[in-house]
Amino acid sequence: MSVMDMKLMACFVLVVFISILSSSLAQSSSNFTRDSLDFLVQDYALRGLSRAQTGFIHEVSLPANLSGMEALVVRIRSGNFRSKGVNYTSFTIPPRVLPIPHVRRLALVFQNLGNLSSYYSLEGYSLVTPVVAFFAYDALHISSNRFKRINLIVEGDPILVHFPQIVLPEHANFTLKCVQYGVNEPAKISEMNTSNLCFTRVQGHFSIVTLMEPKIVVKKNKKEILWKCWVVGFALAFIGLVTVASVTMMMIRYLKCKKVEEMEKQSNGAEAFNYVWIGDCKMPSAATLRTQPILENREVP
Ligand SMILES: *[C@@H]1O[C@H](CO)[C@@H](O)[C@H](O)[C@H]1NC(C)=O
Ligand SMILES: *[C@@H]1O[C@H](CO)[C@@H](O)[C@H](O)[C@H]1NC(C)=O
Ligand SMILES: *[C@@H]1O[C@H](CO)[C@@H](O)[C@H](O)[C@H]1NC(C)=O
Ligand SMILES: *[C@@H]1O[C@H](CO)[C@@H](O)[C@H](O)[C@H]1NC(C)=O
Ligand SMILES: *[C@@H]1O[C@H](CO)[C@@H](O)[C@H](O)[C@H]1NC(C)=O
Ligand SMILES: *[C@@H]1O[C@H](CO)[C@@H](O)[C@H](O)[C@H]1NC(C)=O
Repeated sequence: MSVMDMKLMACFVLVVFISILSSSLAQSSSNFTRDSLDFLVQDYALRGLSRAQTGFIHEVSLPANLSGMEALVVRIRSGNFRSKGVNYTSFTIPPRVLPIPHVRRLALVFQNLGNLSSYYSLEGYSLVTPVVAFFAYDALHISSNRFKRINLIVEGDPILVHFPQIVLPEHANFTLKCVQYGVNEPAKISEMNTSNLCFTRVQGHFSIVTLMEPKIVVKKNKKEILWKCWVVGFALAFIGLVTVASVTMMMIRYLKCKKVEEMEKQSNGAEAFNYVWIGDCKMPSAATLRTQPILENREVP
């Protein structure tokens, strides 16, 4: 194999490697749906729970594609839950919340979606807190990996959702609203009467939103994005062009070399050439000729 063949092969290997790498990078940016995300968290939260002690909340170790969010799980006796209520993380569940159907023990799974909150972004609004969530399960069938969600009927005071950190975006409309995503229900927006506090009578996901910035700002942002898009597009096109050009050059050089090699093979046995290296090409050279020309007539005409 000639040096050129080896270089070409290395180049192809590199191209294939880069394309595999970029496609695998594209795939590793995982795309959940809201439901598939919940199911994955539920799986990780409840699997080990049968060995856990009743009444102690503990953190769930989540897979790498859920890094950026947090989950907690606790198992409680139904009687305690109904008579005393619970107060964990963002949620204060008061007494007189009834699990339906009746279970002896229930498991509560709490989520804080952190930077995965964007799965709950709402058209026309911006989220100003991470999305938090809670769900109730029958704890009895957990050991058999059959996770059964149960309903909660709020008979008395509503469930409180606390939001400790609110980050207002620039140019925000400071009218904050509570948003609630009940199970299989559309998002429900309501006034926030007490600061940093929302009320609910169902389980699901919760956050605080403000109206999106005024239209003019959005337009300017769009222009900016378009401009950036053009810049990136041109840069990519340029890189592509340069790549295509250099690959073409390489191909042309390779073909030239190949031709010369063939010529050399055809003339094999005839006589030995001297070679010079021109670029990456081994070229036969006629620097030393077979017979030295002898000038027969030294007279200048
Ligand atoms: C996230 O990771 C878990 C565990 O590695 C895997 O089971 C699940 O399919 C992944 N989901 C997505 C959407 O990447
Ligand atoms: C993720 O996106 C890819 C294409 O971009 C699609 O084929 C795949 O079904 C999606 N996965 C989920 C869980 O939505
Ligand atoms: C969320 O944050 C974690 C680190 O806390 C990071 O590894 C992950 O890539 C982030 N995800 C997104 C979608 O920004
Ligand atoms: C529940 O805990 C929060 C802090 O996590 C606290 O502010 C609140 O007063 C507690 N509520 C009850 C009823 O204990
Ligand atoms: C915010 O939006 C409300 C309507 O929801 C409007 O009445 C109020 O004037 C707006 N405030 C600002 C500062 O834009
Ligand atoms: C919040 O205020 C609105 C009207 O101001 C009222 O209709 C609603 O019941 C209040 N919500 C709570 C939970 O107090």
